Amino acid sequence: TVLVVDFGAQYAQLIARRVREARIYSEIVPSTMPVAEILAKNPAAIILSGGPSSVYAEGAPAMDRALFEAGVPVFGMCYGFQLMAQTLGGTVDNDGSREYGRTELTVSRPDSTLFEGTPVKQDVWMSHGDACSAAPEGFIVTAATDGVPVAAFENDAKKLFGVQHHPEVMHSTYGQQVLEHFLYRGAGLKPTWTTASVVEESVAAIREQVGSKRAICGLSGGVDSAVAAALVQKAIGDQLTCVYVDHGLMRKGESEQVEKDFVAATGVQLKVVEAEERFLSALAGVSDPEEKRKIIGREFIRVFEQAQAEIVAEAPGDQPVEFLVQGTLYPDVVESGGGTGTANIKSHHNVGGLPEDLEFQLVEPLRRLFKDEVRMVGKQLGLPDEIVQRQPFPGPGLGIRIVGEVTKERLDLLRDADAIAREELTAAGLDTEIWQCPVVLLADVRSVGVQGDGRTYGHPIVLRPVSSEDAMTADWTRMPYDVLARISTRITNEVADVNRVVLDVTSKPPGTIEWE
Ligand code: XMP
Repeated sequence: TVLVVDFGAQYAQLIARRVREARIYSEIVPSTMPVAEILAKNPAAIILSGGPSSVYAEGAPAMDRALFEAGVPVFGMCYGFQLMAQTLGGTVDNDGSREYGRTELTVSRPDSTLFEGTPVKQDVWMSHGDACSAAPEGFIVTAATDGVPVAAFENDAKKLFGVQHHPEVMHSTYGQQVLEHFLYRGAGLKPTWTTASVVEESVAAIREQVGSKRAICGLSGGVDSAVAAALVQKAIGDQLTCVYVDHGLMRKGESEQVEKDFVAATGVQLKVVEAEERFLSALAGVSDPEEKRKIIGREFIRVFEQAQAEIVAEAPGDQPVEFLVQGTLYPDVVESGGGTGTANIKSHHNVGGLPEDLEFQLVEPLRRLFKDEVRMVGKQLGLPDEIVQRQPFPGPGLGIRIVGEVTKERLDLLRDADAIAREELTAAGLDTEIWQCPVVLLADVRSVGVQGDGRTYGHPIVLRPVSSEDAMTADWTRMPYDVLARISTRITNEVADVNRVVLDVTSKPPGTIEWE
């Protein structure tokens, strides 16, 4: 394992992903973790991330010398680089020299471990105030920029390396190569972490955890729960039952996809619960978004518990159902401050939020993976592209894409409009460029239109195409006008009661991706 010490500001996750792209497993630890504890994890190498602090600021995170003296290869980036310099006796000036953004780096030692085979002049991404002016003793300086005399250094004998820039961001043209040079050459690691090895290890771990007991898994139709279920199914077969609650808030063809495609691909035992009426009557008369979310969550839990009771009743002699499979991902684990300890079920969950008193032990086979890795594991498991490449879709479904009361008629109307938009986006080859494109019905708004010589008084449909890496922030997608035009024409022609299509051009923040 390569440990990435997180000095804040979101760089650590990106670095961990890049290390994994080099096929070496990596994990993130907080910079507050004592060095003894870090070393006790027996890391094959350590990377110190960038961060927002100045090494001179009061209370800035520091690093115990012992980390650099343990014989473990260390690579410092940006803040991590300066920290390495300062801790080992180099000089870091806080003289107001700054570099931000794309900067030209001049490599002075093209034979160095990190830069061998890369051009003497290369673009790198900088973001720093302080700068290193003298490397620690025993280090050679390997690169500089106009503003920074010591922009990279290394001490090959001690396996210590550092760069002022951010090799993990894509604007650093040779960043991945520099990182891989550290991993393969500097630290002597081999690229053995593959999707196949992930599947193999997960299957063994799940078998060990669950033993001969039974497990259940709520399927939402989303990628995470599907891949988690497929992994567990591979490990324990029919000891797993998946529960799919059809709440009537799904998009066109979605339930069929879960019922047919997923079962066909995995052979999983599936229990489908038809609960449309139950959900719609609970939602009748409600238009407040939070209230809708709560009702959907509550009804979901009831149905789920009932399904669970039925599963037990149907085969009472079998082993008890003690495990609940969850599609928790690594970013959730990192963001909830952890890695270890008890897992809480998130309320913002893809099946609508399961209560903590469900009293299950959790099986979370994806808790070490990023989203793109989950997709690769899904592919490895033979899941079809329609499931693996699916864009995110919220647990409360179309219920939070109707601004106003949710009724069957409105859902049908929105389903039609949404299906048209999805069809055209797919036909235009935009599915991977667009992170997701909610289609929203403004049910409480009417506007005047004209169609076939007659006046209309219909509802607007909002298109909300966004680009994002993780849904935490997003920008509206600049998609081709002709595709927008086709979607607009088709929706207004084919969907009764819709006489206007509008485009949401708000980033997140300030707007969220969903409208409710
Ligand atoms: P917002 O609207 O908060 O959405 O910008 C961020 C991402 O989360 C999805 N989303 C949900 N996913 N249960 C989910 O599983 C939910 O209740 C929920 N609400 C929003 C949304 O589609 C986007 O990808």
